Amino acid sequence: MVLATYNIKGGVGKTSAAVNLAYLASRDGAATLLWDLDPQGASTYLLRVKPKLEGGGRRLVHGKTDAGERIKGTDYEHLDLLPADFSYRHMDLHLDETKRPTSRLGRVLEPIAPEYDYVFLDCPPSISLVSESVFEAADVLLIPLLPATLSARTLEYIDQVAGDGTRRLAFFSMVDSRKRMHRDVMEAFTAERPEMLHTVVPLAADVERMGLMRAPLEEFAPRGAAAIAFRELWQEIRERVSEG
Ligand SMILES: Nc1ncnc2c1ncn2[C@@H]1O[C@H](COP(=O)(O)OP(=O)(O)OP(=O)(O)O)[C@@H](O)[C@H]1O
Ligand SMILES: [Mg+2]
Repeated sequence: MVLATYNIKGGVGKTSAAVNLAYLASRDGAATLLWDLDPQGASTYLLRVKPKLEGGGRRLVHGKTDAGERIKGTDYEHLDLLPADFSYRHMDLHLDETKRPTSRLGRVLEPIAPEYDYVFLDCPPSISLVSESVFEAADVLLIPLLPATLSARTLEYIDQVAGDGTRRLAFFSMVDSRKRMHRDVMEAFTAERPEMLHTVVPLAADVERMGLMRAPLEEFAPRGAAAIAFRELWQEIRERVSEG
């Protein structure tokens, strides 16, 4: 199963979700791969791997690099990483050079995916050929949304471009439950979109500390509200996905 953390917007919690959810999947004993598609390499950094892909992104996208050979282990059993590379900033161009650009990422994954129970894709914030290729490769889009009124429109845009083939599971991220605005927006939003995931990821310093600790929350703050939320989120995602 391929799950992509995606949003058009930047800084909404895609990478934090990808790293914590992939970690939780692997901790259950599931063979898990995280592919860091963002040239900035944030999830690669958090998992303490060098942000470098030998041969670069172009050869990978063109099918000239054996992706399996580029996979790195992490400090955690069952969790592997296909690292980011700065050349991914040109991935749109590299995809555009191919015959069927939107199917390329799926093709790169084809030979390696069977070895994994879960593949997570951590996407850069954009709406581009890379995103379209992600939509085609992913079974599920995990969409962190800020509790702000404009997020409703963001989700509508994503609905338009992602098409019917890709399941979309959206959840609220960086929520400050003391803020009336956040509560009101979430309530109105959920009334309109009952299919929203119920779990909410709180605004929490622990999540920011992941950058200092360079580790998933479970490793250094398992009892904090954020770690609890991600455990619930993963549970809810698995339930929703298995309901079909
Ligand atoms: N729930 C949270 N509470 C507090 N800080 C958070 C939370 N989630 C993310 N952050 C912080 O916000 C910043 C952006 O988070 P993150 O990198 O997960 O977002 P992103 O959507 O992947 O960003 P980008 O679009 O740049 O890839 C980071 O500094 C992160 O530590
Ligand atoms: Mg990110």
